[in-house]
Amino acid sequence: MDFQHTLLSWYKTHKRDLPWRHTNNPYIIWLSEIILQQTRVDQGTPYFLKFLDAFPTVTDFAKADEASILKLWQGLGYYSRARNMHATAKQVIGDYNGVFPTSYQELLKLRGIGPYSAAAISSFSAGAKQAVVDGNVFRVLARYFGIQSPINAPKGIKEFNVLAAELLFMPDPGLYNQAIMEFGALQCKAKKPGCSICPLNVDCVALKTDSVGKLPVKLPKAAKKSRYFNYFICIKNNQILVRHRLAGDIWQHLFDFPCIETKDAYDGLQPDLMDAAVAVFGVDSSLSLKTSLRHILTHQLITAKFFLVDDFFIELSKFDNCKWVSLQELDELPQPKLINNFIEKFL
Ligand code: ADE
Repeated sequence: MDFQHTLLSWYKTHKRDLPWRHTNNPYIIWLSEIILQQTRVDQGTPYFLKFLDAFPTVTDFAKADEASILKLWQGLGYYSRARNMHATAKQVIGDYNGVFPTSYQELLKLRGIGPYSAAAISSFSAGAKQAVVDGNVFRVLARYFGIQSPINAPKGIKEFNVLAAELLFMPDPGLYNQAIMEFGALQCKAKKPGCSICPLNVDCVALKTDSVGKLPVKLPKAAKKSRYFNYFICIKNNQILVRHRLAGDIWQHLFDFPCIETKDAYDGLQPDLMDAAVAVFGVDSSLSLKTSLRHILTHQLITAKFFLVDDFFIELSKFDNCKWVSLQELDELPQPKLINNFIEKFL
């Protein structure tokens, strides 16, 4: 059997029964694909079900307010995905009369939809002849064909895309795309792949040359930038001061707390942070360090210290975009995961 038929036959018996595989509705497939970008299936599935329940159609999604979308998204990270989804839903209502497009070219015009998602949605919903190339596909192709080109450099990406397009199984591109992705996720796994029971093991170049663990090749990433956030927790009369984060930085439109960012970690010895805080909170304030948490983002490593502020006379105008909310209201606001972890553990 050739490569394609082997994958299709493997898929038939090994595929997982996932909720978005029972439909060809492009809206539902879009929902699943965006949620599953950078998210594992077991983590993403409950979110997919929650979103579909809250917004059964693209019209419901477009009509929702952004805060409720961000709240449902909470915990998934990469919040720009959720905001892009809202923009896309509105675009589908405005530009496509509420009918979710299924053509690859039209899908590419929507916010947050790149070549991978456009290929997935168009092939799964309408059988478009577009090959998906995600992390799973890179891995399967790199190993089976013994390709050494880095998968995160333009030349390698091009090479893998050309090969994936050549291999596409034309009678049913959607089924083939799901099969190769599922094969990468379950059989040709990044760690501990099941080579001894693999239906492709006879012709797999990586297996023959003992390089399964070395493929695919990835160029090292640039170091993450370290940032130090010093948060001030101000609670008075059962109300807490929160800050609405604006555009131009991470966590756009989510809520955290008043914050002073410093160049280095505050180690209790630098007077400048305390001076800055006292200037804002009034000379009588006393600050106690409640905890320190770390959070890893794609390009940044955040170290956050949380200080409890006592006896303060805060002038709201000294912090932009801050407001008082009750502790109950705080729970309803969309928050970055780091902030939610703090609230759950310490408030
Ligand atoms: N990851 C991204 N898209 C997926 C899909 N349709 N099925 C399983 N895992 C996925």
